[in-house]
Amino acid sequence: MEKFYLTTPIYYINGKPSVGHAYTTIAADIIARYQRLLGKEVFFLTGTDENGQKNTEAAEKAGKGDDVPGYLDDMAALWQKTFEEMGVTHNRFIRTTEEDHKIAVEAFWKRVEATGDIYKGEYEGLYCKGCEAFITESDLVDGQCPHHQTAPEVIKEENYFFKLTKYREALLKHIDENPNFIMPKKRRNEVRSYVEKFMTDVSISRSSLNWGIPVPGDESQVIYVWFDALINYLTGVGFGKDNAQFEATWPADVHLVGKDIIKFHCALWPAMLLSAGLPLPKQIYAHGFFTIDGIKMSKSLGNVVDPIEVKNDFSNDVLRYFLMREIRFGEDGDYSAARMEERYNGELANELGNLANRVLAMTGKYFDSIVPEKTPHDALEHIDAYHDALSNLHFHDGLEAIWSLVREANQFVEQKKPWVLAKEEKIEELAATMYVLLEMLRHIGWLLVPFMPDTAEKLLQKLGQTSTEGNFESKLTWGLLNPGSTIEKGEPLFPRRETNE
Ligand code: MSP
Repeated sequence: MEKFYLTTPIYYINGKPSVGHAYTTIAADIIARYQRLLGKEVFFLTGTDENGQKNTEAAEKAGKGDDVPGYLDDMAALWQKTFEEMGVTHNRFIRTTEEDHKIAVEAFWKRVEATGDIYKGEYEGLYCKGCEAFITESDLVDGQCPHHQTAPEVIKEENYFFKLTKYREALLKHIDENPNFIMPKKRRNEVRSYVEKFMTDVSISRSSLNWGIPVPGDESQVIYVWFDALINYLTGVGFGKDNAQFEATWPADVHLVGKDIIKFHCALWPAMLLSAGLPLPKQIYAHGFFTIDGIKMSKSLGNVVDPIEVKNDFSNDVLRYFLMREIRFGEDGDYSAARMEERYNGELANELGNLANRVLAMTGKYFDSIVPEKTPHDALEHIDAYHDALSNLHFHDGLEAIWSLVREANQFVEQKKPWVLAKEEKIEELAATMYVLLEMLRHIGWLLVPFMPDTAEKLLQKLGQTSTEGNFESKLTWGLLNPGSTIEKGEPLFPRRETNE
């Protein structure tokens, strides 16, 4: 079976998951579910980044400074539970405090060291704890990190450095020869210019911290959190432990990341892999950032949206739909509960929900909920567009393709007017019409599986089917609904929402 390996960033756990973190995770889940439907063996990795200063400080703030591991266990459990409640179908949840990861990082460090790419030097400069990154004066705005509105720490210490600049030419060549390596294109250009003009060697250890993975052979230093974190993508598939799994799974097909962390993923990480003599990931895809009602989401502003609250208010599927429909993947956007309500009432309840309701109700009324005789039909339009969109991570267009089919089905109802056919007793035409509509619904159900898995399952169950059996090749074929089988209208897919007005 063809393999497909995809990852999300591993998240810092100095706070609860937000819809921002949920966004990347949901996008990855859509890819994972889609690739499984194509019949591939998917390995989907997500997890938590636990060795940074951010986490120890959060532990202290929470009064758990004397028990950082206990704090991290609690937070990692919370993150894991959240992803579970969100219905995320990852294959492994990795924590960088796991023993497996420590072993992988040590093995990796030694390979890079053996290549001669690690040297000792004096680091004198700035460090932003918010970014967990060494930054320069030119990154600052009014003396502060523009992302975190905090002044950086001034650090002067002896560190180990990685010869990043040694890989400048190789990176540029790889970027130029593999146009899909960094996507979308504007991110590729951004990274290319950084690699060409600004990239310097980087410090990859810290001597003043006591939290993290010790440098092999020098316990007085810990490995820089990003150098350690990136290696999770290898640990997750067996590096240093299960060579057979590693060989069979690496390289990753897609590393999904936010645009905020592309330099680490598109420059440092590939250079680390080149140094260690390992293949490069096939693609790094960076999505945009969204604001909340036009304002940057931040703990200090108190506008952080919790995905579980959205789940309780709407549902996981509605959040998935909204994020993928509202924000073009790769671009920046805005999250707003009011917009979500609008899309719920319009596209979900009125267009899709109503279509299902009408078709199922009419089948009940005219055919006693029994699927009528098969009718041939031209291949459905929009399915090619759907595949094209999903294989390029254009989720927005993928949903548009499904909704084109929904609208086509709604138009078909208006055009055929089954109630008139029934009144005029044109039973054959009525039967043919209903069969076409039921089959359209079944197709819509399958196409929805990656995006809205619970809704898809409900819809398919109404048609006497289940989304857990089968893949696209076996399901996106006209005429699989068996005449004589029973359908059930049941509860509406998107019930009218109680409003406070
Ligand atoms: N720990 C590092 C990643 C290491 S990967 C080897 C990190 N963690 S993080 O917790 O800060 O998560 C950052 C990621 O969360 C972003 O890259 C992005 O994927 C996601 N997002 C967080 N807020 C977001 C928005 N407001 N909008 C979109 N994505 C957001 O960086």
